Amino acid sequence: MLMRTPAFPSRLPKVGTNIFTVMSALAQQHDAVNLGQGFPDFDCDPALLDAVNAAMRAGHTQYPPMAGVPILREAVAAKIEACYGRQYDPVSEITVTAGATQAILTAILACVHRGDEVIVLEPCYDSYGPNIELAGGTVVRVALTPGSFRPDFAAIAQALSPRTRAIIVNSPHNPTGTVWRAADLDRLADLLRPTDVLLISDEVYEHMVFDGERHASASAHAELAARAFVVSSFGKTFHVTGWKIGTVAAPAPLSVEFRKVHQFNVFTVNTPMQYALASYLASPQPYLGLSDFYAAKRDLFRAGLAATRLRALPSEGTYFQCVDYSAVSDLGEVAFCRWLTSDIGVAAIPLSVFYEGGYEQRIVRLCFAKRDDTLRLALDRLVRV
Ligand SMILES: Cc1ncc(COP(=O)(O)O)c(C=O)c1O
Repeated sequence: MLMRTPAFPSRLPKVGTNIFTVMSALAQQHDAVNLGQGFPDFDCDPALLDAVNAAMRAGHTQYPPMAGVPILREAVAAKIEACYGRQYDPVSEITVTAGATQAILTAILACVHRGDEVIVLEPCYDSYGPNIELAGGTVVRVALTPGSFRPDFAAIAQALSPRTRAIIVNSPHNPTGTVWRAADLDRLADLLRPTDVLLISDEVYEHMVFDGERHASASAHAELAARAFVVSSFGKTFHVTGWKIGTVAAPAPLSVEFRKVHQFNVFTVNTPMQYALASYLASPQPYLGLSDFYAAKRDLFRAGLAATRLRALPSEGTYFQCVDYSAVSDLGEVAFCRWLTSDIGVAAIPLSVFYEGGYEQRIVRLCFAKRDDTLRLALDRLVRV
């Protein structure tokens, strides 16, 4: 009998192995300090582990409600109100998701129809484009202003069309570390006011904003909040990226459609983590102290970079630091990252991979969500560049 695996046309023909996997493998091969992929190399608060343990022992083991356990949704609604002043109804407007990645895909699948356009601002997180394509939508790419990476509202205005269904905005921004100001949200609101365009606001780094600035959340902006899916991630906020748990806050009519898709892709999210996070959220200190925690790491890292030939660009938020290496090398960004990993012993991510066309600027992204010793080891190596 001939065993034949049928061939079929790929839904995502352009997608290959992503650069994070490639660079992490290369880092391992060369025993490099991995400042490529964005995750902490330190543990979360033991109190959070205790809370998960307690929830498991308390028998929170079976399916929770589809939208998430009520006490977690209530805790999240209270947190949003305390941080951003908006009241979301925990029953109808907060949904617990399997991380921000699933939240963003679900929001897109919930609202994007075949032929709809969705605006993304490049460079951007790598899931947005494939998500839009899976929904049958067309990705409309607008570049952030080269150099400053601030939003180019004239270009966004030009990209809006009668077919635009949504725009995805990410602040604090991966990969560049720029942070939108309240005035940027006002400009966006001006542009969207005459339209029915929805906003998907990816705010996974909301608690990592430096230098006395405050995170400008779409949920704090009455007009934008009325048309927004606001996406958060406990993974980023509590140093548990592998737990894959987050939330979406959205007005009831948006949440209704969101949940229709959510219930048929994950249905719901693991129960003990939800109870644990609900009790852990009782204290605001872990998330309110996060900006200072990461600002100290950023400052340590930038002080060390000042002694290298790499030029550190501003990092206003997130746990990413971009550097311009044009004083060092003429290599393209991917080739430079390979060389940095194999010959210098530090893994980084090329900025070009966050652009569809692979736009080259001689800039790479480094992640400083690492122990101070890890950062010092990387800096000892980077001075050799
Ligand atoms: C901008 C952005 N959005 C979403 C995510 C995904 O978050 P999660 O791990 O909660 O799915 C990431 C993770 O790197 C990110 O950088």
